Amino acid sequence: MATAWSMGPGTLEVPLSLFEKNRKRLASQLKNGQIVILQGGDAINHYDTDVEYVFRQEAYFTWVCGVREPGCYFALDVSTGRAHLFVPHHPEEYEVWMGKLLSCDEFRKIYGVDEVHYVEELHKVLKELNPEVLLTLSGTNTDSGLTAKEAVFEGINDFKVDNESLFPIIAELRVIKTPEEIEVLRYVCKVSSDAHKQVMLYAKPGLKEYQCESVFLDHCYRVGGCRHVSYTCICGSGFTGATLHYGHAAAPNSKIIRDGDMCLFDMGGNYAGYAADITCSFPANGKFTDDQRLVYEAVLAGRDAVVREGKPGVMWTDMHLTANRAMLEHLKKGNMLRGDVEEMIKAGVNGILQPHGLGHLIGLDVHDVGGYLPHCPPRPDGPLSRLRTARTLQAGMLLTIEPGCYFIKRLLNRARDNPDQSKFFNWDMVERFLDFGGVRIEDDVLITENGVENLTFVPRTVAEIEEFMANGANFKQ
Ligand code: GLY
Ligand code: MN
Ligand code: MN
Repeated sequence: MATAWSMGPGTLEVPLSLFEKNRKRLASQLKNGQIVILQGGDAINHYDTDVEYVFRQEAYFTWVCGVREPGCYFALDVSTGRAHLFVPHHPEEYEVWMGKLLSCDEFRKIYGVDEVHYVEELHKVLKELNPEVLLTLSGTNTDSGLTAKEAVFEGINDFKVDNESLFPIIAELRVIKTPEEIEVLRYVCKVSSDAHKQVMLYAKPGLKEYQCESVFLDHCYRVGGCRHVSYTCICGSGFTGATLHYGHAAAPNSKIIRDGDMCLFDMGGNYAGYAADITCSFPANGKFTDDQRLVYEAVLAGRDAVVREGKPGVMWTDMHLTANRAMLEHLKKGNMLRGDVEEMIKAGVNGILQPHGLGHLIGLDVHDVGGYLPHCPPRPDGPLSRLRTARTLQAGMLLTIEPGCYFIKRLLNRARDNPDQSKFFNWDMVERFLDFGGVRIEDDVLITENGVENLTFVPRTVAEIEEFMANGANFKQ
């Protein structure tokens, strides 16, 4: 019987007990007579071709059983606590192209579940289990607005189905990470931190941004066994750093990095489905100018304030404003802004310079579920509506802290035309920054009983970055 899964020697062994514990936590919130039924992800082809995307399992399915292949179903019988996996019944030809056809018993041993059946037996097995009700997963992801994939199979109408109860329960369980999940997240954050450090050593003026992306991908995969990253790599340099989700197909990290550019690299590996999401900002040539230092240290002041003040019981919306305040204070000291910081926030100056929230829950999804569940504070009105959660922090949550400061021409022009905002800016100085791009500092942190534990290990202060870029050549992961 397997007890763990890994990508081989040197990579993290993910214990199957991680998934077993998730099932136990889930069952403890449900009632006898209920059976949870989840449908895993399917293989997806590129358009009409026979080429498939490399499969990535659906996150709720991973959470409950860790199964890595497409076309499966999973049932948790609450009355007995037994875990049933249903796998596709492939033809013999499968063995020619895809490898050994595994028996149900072999699957049972690989995934550590109680029983394995073929998908075609799903209806029959469920009938034998004779549930009072099937619980299926249906709900809206508040980051994407898309809905979870609800299990469907032939004959489901022969059962009483409740598709409302499960979603808030399982999403809430995903918000609070177990020690086993924290170990996986710790690992993927360490691998991703090391990958960012390799990039910092490699980056220099004259390279294309995607060459830095490639160093990150290489390290995550070659050293850390991360076959996937958690989202498209964002590798801005100079003015491209002001595009928040740069790196997409129409802007594929292809600008040449110039001397004097600030790099803003937002990249995170993914291991066993668990995500990292880290941003490093640094000068391409390894030495901060005074202007770069001003903006960087303003953002760092925001991050430091949240790392200092974050703890259970604190509201995320307050942390967002704490970070904004610290950043604006610093920019005011640097003569870029003038006036009262509280008045600036009332006027929305913070949202001009940082048009995104402080951060988000992270786990099996990079923007993890549970930001706005029915029992939690609703999405605020006004500028705070852009936050991905308004929750009160609890021990066991993992979040990103990612304050940023960007010089986005469209937003700055809007501010200049708005007398309520314009008066706070020193426009003579801001002019100098129109091609600056931006700075974001993004850490992945665990909320502990006492405060914040940072799982991100990269050079963060100006002195640390300059020292590392000058003398870090001996850094080996
Ligand atoms: N990489 C997307 C984010 O930072 O949320
Ligand atoms: Mn990010
Ligand atoms: Mn993020």
